[in-house]
Order: sequence, then structure tokens, then C-alpha cells
Amino acid sequence: MKNNLLKCASEAALKAGEILREGFGTTFLIESKEGINNLVTEYDKKSELAIINMISQKFPDHKFLAEESGYSGNESEDSVRWIIDPLDGTVNFAHAMPIFSVSIAAEYKGEIICGVVYHPILNEMFTAIKGEGAFLNGKKIKVSDNHEFDHAFLVTGFPYNVYESDYHNGELFTSIIKKGVPVRRLGSAALDLAYVAMGRFDGFWEVELHPWDVAAGVLLVQEAGGSVTQYDNCPYSVYDNNLLATNGKIHSEFTVHIENYRVK
Ligand code: IPD
Ligand code: CA
Ligand code: CA
Repeated sequence: MKNNLLKCASEAALKAGEILREGFGTTFLIESKEGINNLVTEYDKKSELAIINMISQKFPDHKFLAEESGYSGNESEDSVRWIIDPLDGTVNFAHAMPIFSVSIAAEYKGEIICGVVYHPILNEMFTAIKGEGAFLNGKKIKVSDNHEFDHAFLVTGFPYNVYESDYHNGELFTSIIKKGVPVRRLGSAALDLAYVAMGRFDGFWEVELHPWDVAAGVLLVQEAGGSVTQYDNCPYSVYDNNLLATNGKIHSEFTVHIENYRVK
């Protein structure tokens, strides 16, 4: 079953990628959602429609949680739920910045069992099946080997409501860059996680992400040998508020830094 799900997810991501490539760099409709800089374009919607149509043609009894259309499909506890971000990195896409992705994961009985993250511009397809490893364009990937937090290469992000949240990322971000650790902000959480899975980054942290941003990427990191927890090292579910994903080797040092940074 998992292989059929992954095949369908990959085909849907390729189709969505084709749609996004067509729109990339053209003039299109851009609207604001909650907060002026939380954008949605006509391509988020086109991509999502194409993904849901493709999946429901193959699996008519499955259900969905997709960023633009929310929960849909049958309510049976027993059916697979597809968790979809049709365009992760909308703000980049809206500014013709070629860093964005499509993220599709399948959840069954509370567990993410397979997922794909696709970068349509680089044609990089990251795939994972629970218990069977993580892959980039069919080749097995693993997390980086770096053991030292001070020598890590990290990536993070900031929620759209950063200005109103007490638990935003500004202070933690500052405390890490003040150690001299290089940190990037790419603007696509799904890609951030895929890049931890393949060893481009040693770690990623962010707050207030949604299940569609992370469902596929978290499985990629876990299947590539990395660790994913909440900031306090407690087990992470894609419905939790804060996320720390690393190569595993810097994980405990990272959690200690998070615990201590406020008092330093
Ligand atoms: C956003 C991106 C970004 C993250 C935001 C997300 P969107 O998703 O993943 O990197 O910092 O919190 O909402 O809106 O481009 O799908
Ligand atoms: Ca997203
Ligand atoms: Ca999105």
C-alpha cells in the first residue's frame, strides 16, 4: 500500500510542479490572507486543485487536509488523510525567487507513512516511506555527519504573525547568530527539512508551522537518520507548535542552548 501511495504522491507533485513552473516569473493574482504578508496566489490554488483531483481519482475514499481548502473528503477514521502544501514558499514565488516546493504526505491512523517534497525549478524530488529510508531522485540520502553545534550550518524561519506572538523566534535566532553560527532563512519549511535530510543543513528550527508545511519533511529527516523533537526534546507531532529537526548529532546540544538562551 505504501508504495502505491508514494507513487501517487510523486505523480501529483510532478503535475503540481509543472503548473508552478508555468506560472513562475509571470504576472498573476496575489492576495493577502490573515496578515498583509501572508500571501496566496492563483498558483497556490491551481496547484492544490490539481493535486487533490489526481489523488481522489486514484483513491476516491481518501480524505484531505490541504492549506487552501482545509479538511475535505470522507470522515472515516480508517481512511488515509493526505496533508498537502501545494506551494510552500509562496512569498518567494510571488517575488520570482526560485526557492519553493510542493509538499504531500499521507497520514494513516495518526502516523505519517510516506511523503514527498518537490523543488520544481531544480527538479529535485525528495521521497520517504516510513521504515524504508529517504531518497533524492531515487538515490538514498542521509543526514550530515557534523557533531558540533558551534560548527553547524543551520536554517530557520519566522511565522507570519511574528509581531504578535510572545513565543516568536527573534531572540533564539539572535542568540544563535551571536555564537557565530551561520543561519539561513530560505522561506520554505518543507525544503528546509528536505535539506536537513540530505545533509545540506545540520539543523532546522521554527515555531507555529502547520501540518502541511512539515508532514513530508519531518518523515524525510527521520528516515534519513536525523532527529525531530519539540524544543524541549519531547516527541514531536506535526500538530505541535515548535519543531527542532537535526542530524541527530547536534540535537542534545541544540536543546540545551534553547533551554538556556533566555537567561544568558
Ligand atoms: C511558509 C514557509 C515559510 C515559513 C512559514 C510558512 P507558505 O509557508 O514554509 O518558510 O517560515 O511559517 O507558513 O505560506 O509559503 O506555504
Ligand atoms: Ca507552507
Ligand atoms: Ca503554501
